[in-house]
Amino acid sequence: MAVATFAVYPEASSVQDGRLLIGGCDAAELAREFGTPVYVMAEDDLRAGARAFRTALRTHHDGPGEVVFASKACPATAVLRVFAEEGLGCDVASGGELHLALKAGFAPERIHLHGNAKSEEELRAAVDAGVGWVVVDNVEDIAKLERVLRPDRRQRVLLRIRPGVDADTHAAILTGHAESKFGLDPREACAIAHDPPAHLDVQGFHFHLGSQLTDPTPYRAAVSVLARLGDHPVYSLGGGYAVAYTADDRPPGIDASVAAVVQAAHDLLGPDKRLIVEPGRSLVANAGVTLYTVESVKRLPGGARIVAVDGGMSDNPRPMLYDAVYDVRVADRFEAEGEPATVVGKHCESGDVLVRRTRLPDARPGDVLVTPVTGAYGHAMASNYNALRRPPIVFCAGGDARAVVRRETYEDLGARDL
Ligand code: LLP
Repeated sequence: MAVATFAVYPEASSVQDGRLLIGGCDAAELAREFGTPVYVMAEDDLRAGARAFRTALRTHHDGPGEVVFASKACPATAVLRVFAEEGLGCDVASGGELHLALKAGFAPERIHLHGNAKSEEELRAAVDAGVGWVVVDNVEDIAKLERVLRPDRRQRVLLRIRPGVDADTHAAILTGHAESKFGLDPREACAIAHDPPAHLDVQGFHFHLGSQLTDPTPYRAAVSVLARLGDHPVYSLGGGYAVAYTADDRPPGIDASVAAVVQAAHDLLGPDKRLIVEPGRSLVANAGVTLYTVESVKRLPGGARIVAVDGGMSDNPRPMLYDAVYDVRVADRFEAEGEPATVVGKHCESGDVLVRRTRLPDARPGDVLVTPVTGAYGHAMASNYNALRRPPIVFCAGGDARAVVRRETYEDLGARDL
């Protein structure tokens, strides 16, 4: 087998007699048992990722620190529960994510409420639940917090800044640039921190530069902006650590990524600050794969092969939104060499392409295809387009498989009808 290709699959996966196993479970069998499309996650990989982040932060930073899961990457209760058990905190960016984080068992004081357009209702829910941290993004957050807090209560906050730092990623997922909709102007944040309103306990600052960042250099540039804002006890350096989507990708990895941001913080802020890192994608992406069933195969006049599966942009909109590139294989002929093919979804638009210009062996209707690295922002961004039922999530570990999110039903599709 091409070892490099396999590197993007869960650690807890293997290939036996050409058949892919995830967490000891045969992928083609999983497709039969749970139906397709289905998100399959290796539970051991989730735990290993959480431990790798905590170990990296402990190794490189003697001072206090916290690893916070950005729940938007996979807001499924079972996934959140794993990370709560593994001692992570939780970043929530809406009332819904807050609800799920509390349901999954995160201690409220380990929850960080984010958002550039928080409603008063969301802030009230967070304050009533006793969340540890509100990340203030704009001056309206400050006014709304004053309205929802009891007069005798101060809320611990970080001020999110817009550091004005560019990074090399898709424009849609860049967030720390000068024109970003997220965060306060650094000078404005500095003024608030120096003379905070009575209801705010300002502990420090936060930035998040963007997502799928392979180069750590921009983090140092952003930390240098923080260093000009005075001396504070807490700094949250956001998430954004890149993962490998294909064998050609060579991201730095968890330890090197954390080492780089921590080093920048030590050099520019001092060694004893409380440092928060906020990974989303890198905790879940490679732990998950999606299984599909081939429904039709066409050969175009020029010879191009179009392989259509039973999911598509409704379970993975990332190729359409960010030109994201995925690997694809046949689950029970995993190592077979193949011919050029394009894998498309079943939605009623031509842009519904999952994998362009790939190679597949002679794929036939009924074959199970697998796309790796779909643990992040797949379930999170799934839709019901064309009234498709959103897929289940199945956890696999030690040869056992259990659904932790069920497939939607047709009744679910009409459940909100009045
Ligand atoms: N912290 C904040 C404040 C964020 O906004 C995000 C992601 C993260 C942490 C986690 O970033 P990560 O480690 O996952 O890169 N839907 C897009 C990604 C959007 C990321 C939004 N914010 C995608 O599928 O690529």
